[in-house]
Amino acid sequence: MYKDIIKLVNGDITKIPEVEAIVNAANTSLEMGGGVCGAIFRAAGSYHLAKECKEIGGCNTGEAVITKGYNLPNKYIIHTVGPKYSTGENGEAERLTSAYYESLKLAKKKGIRKIAFPSISTGIYRFPIDEGSEIALNTAIKFLDENPNSFDLILWVLDEKTYIVYKEKYEKLIKE
Ligand code: APR
Repeated sequence: MYKDIIKLVNGDITKIPEVEAIVNAANTSLEMGGGVCGAIFRAAGSYHLAKECKEIGGCNTGEAVITKGYNLPNKYIIHTVGPKYSTGENGEAERLTSAYYESLKLAKKKGIRKIAFPSISTGIYRFPIDEGSEIALNTAIKFLDENPNSFDLILWVLDEKTYIVYKEKYEKLIKE
C-alpha cells in the first residue's frame, strides 16, 4: 500500500536534493556531533547551523525541532533526538517511535511532502538495528494510516550494512 511513498536507498543523506527536508539524528543540546550529525553540520555549514541550534536551545529525547538547511540542497533540517540504548527496559522503543513520529508531525505541519531519514539511534546510541528498523518503518506506516495523503516520499538513506537489514523488514512490512 505504501511502496510508492516509503522507500529505502543506500547513500549519503547530505546528497538528496529531491527532498525538502532531511532529518538529523541529533543530541539533546543540538550540538555538532559525530556520525550523521557531523556530516549534516559539515554539509550545511556548521557556523550558521550551530548558531540557529543554539538559539533554539535544545531538544528533548523523542521530540523534534526544525532549522534551515543552509548549504544543503534541502530547505529544512528536522533535528530529532533518539534514545541512547541501555537495557531496552527504559522506554527506548517508545522514545524511538516518538522521535520518528514527532519528526513526521513537524514536517506535515510545515507542509513538507518529501522527507529523508537516517537510521536514528542505531549508530553511536547503539539501538539494536533489527528492532530499530522495524520501529522506523512501522512508525511511518502508522503516520500514513492516520494522515492519508500527507507525504509523497518518506525515504530512508542508509549505509550498506543498515540498508540490508531495513530491506528485509521492508519486504515484510510495506505492502504494494
Ligand atoms: N548519511 C546517512 N546515514 C549516515 C551518514 C550519512 N552521511 N553518516 C552516518 N550515517 C548512519 C550511521 O551509519 C548509522 O546507521 O546514520 C546512522 C545513525 O548513526 P549516528 O549518526 O551515530 O546516530 P545515533 O545513533 O542516533 O547517535 C546520535 O551521535 O553524532 C552524534 O550528535 C549525535 O550525540 C548524537 C548521537
